[in-house]
Amino acid sequence: MTEKDFLPGAYQKMPENGKVTWKAPSNIALVKYWGKRPVQIPANPSISFTLDACATTTSVTFEKKEKNDGFSFDLIFEGKQKADFKPKIQTFLERVEMYLPFLKAYHFTIETSNSFPHSSGIASSASGMAALSLCLMDIEKELNPSMDEALFHAKASYLARLGSGSACRSIKGDLVQWGAHKNIPNSSDLYGMEYPFKVNPVFKSYCDTILLVHKGQKKVSSTVGHQLMHGHPYAENRFEQAFSNLDKLKPILANGDLEEFIKLVESEALTLHAMMMTSMPYFMLMKPDTLEIINKIWEYREATKTPVCFTLDAGANVHLLYPSSDKEKVQIFIKDELAEHCENGQYIHDQVGSGAIKIND
Ligand code: PMV
Repeated sequence: MTEKDFLPGAYQKMPENGKVTWKAPSNIALVKYWGKRPVQIPANPSISFTLDACATTTSVTFEKKEKNDGFSFDLIFEGKQKADFKPKIQTFLERVEMYLPFLKAYHFTIETSNSFPHSSGIASSASGMAALSLCLMDIEKELNPSMDEALFHAKASYLARLGSGSACRSIKGDLVQWGAHKNIPNSSDLYGMEYPFKVNPVFKSYCDTILLVHKGQKKVSSTVGHQLMHGHPYAENRFEQAFSNLDKLKPILANGDLEEFIKLVESEALTLHAMMMTSMPYFMLMKPDTLEIINKIWEYREATKTPVCFTLDAGANVHLLYPSSDKEKVQIFIKDELAEHCENGQYIHDQVGSGAIKIND
């Protein structure tokens, strides 16, 4: 599909009002997206596990306005009006208006909440933008009931990408690929899609425990970090490596080769942070406890031969990945050894999920 496929024709009907609700999960990348050109076109393809427990639920109530004059919306976050989120939503609506020409015809009340604690350091932009995009697509489907499922999901992912790049991987599950790659049929820079190749059952129920090392605001935002890949001395090699890692991942995912999975995933995480440390200006998002946890994971893996590994997103938190068959003993290890490195001892047990769902009110 191309951008043109996302431009709707004339709407078949325009309801006076209504309400839609969607719950969209967060995701964690195995091969990372870091570096982009406008608007949210990735410098390299990426792939992620869709999560389950960490999610955003968003309801959009819509009411026809008298005049089609500008955007009109209220934003309610966890029960309270949230004025400081409004500019981001305003920018998003401006960006997607040509693909959703009904936006100025309605007043929207957007009510949103996260399943994970406030300022846990878990980015809510992926699940938040995915949930909002799905709600807007659901409204569009009321206006154009003949829209098919494939277009619905691709366009929801396309819109989510325009809100926040990695959000486009939070529509479907369990593994989502985003970014054009010559060896992955139908892959696109414009939207994420379900990983089209064979996936060993071990990965279908993989666990991800998010160790909340630092819950405060990050010193450098992802937006700035992506920007610093322009003119970065290692950027071209890094982008090539990501393309090649997607090729390498294909037999690993098909065969359930955990040893190779661990090497590739940990290398991707450390490369992401190495890019940050070698940007100009350079910066570091890992904290001393991030490193303590990584070392303990390596020691535990060596001593017990349990296939646990870590990945990182753009922050200090550590995602501990392991097969569900090892859940019991790994969770004891987390409680006994890793929790002490988390802020207030906090962590969240999550696992691979199956994508966003519509909630019937
Ligand atoms: O979607 P953004 O702009 O927040 O960037 C996400 C970047 C990483 O989380 C570090 C990697 C990824 O692929 O999710």
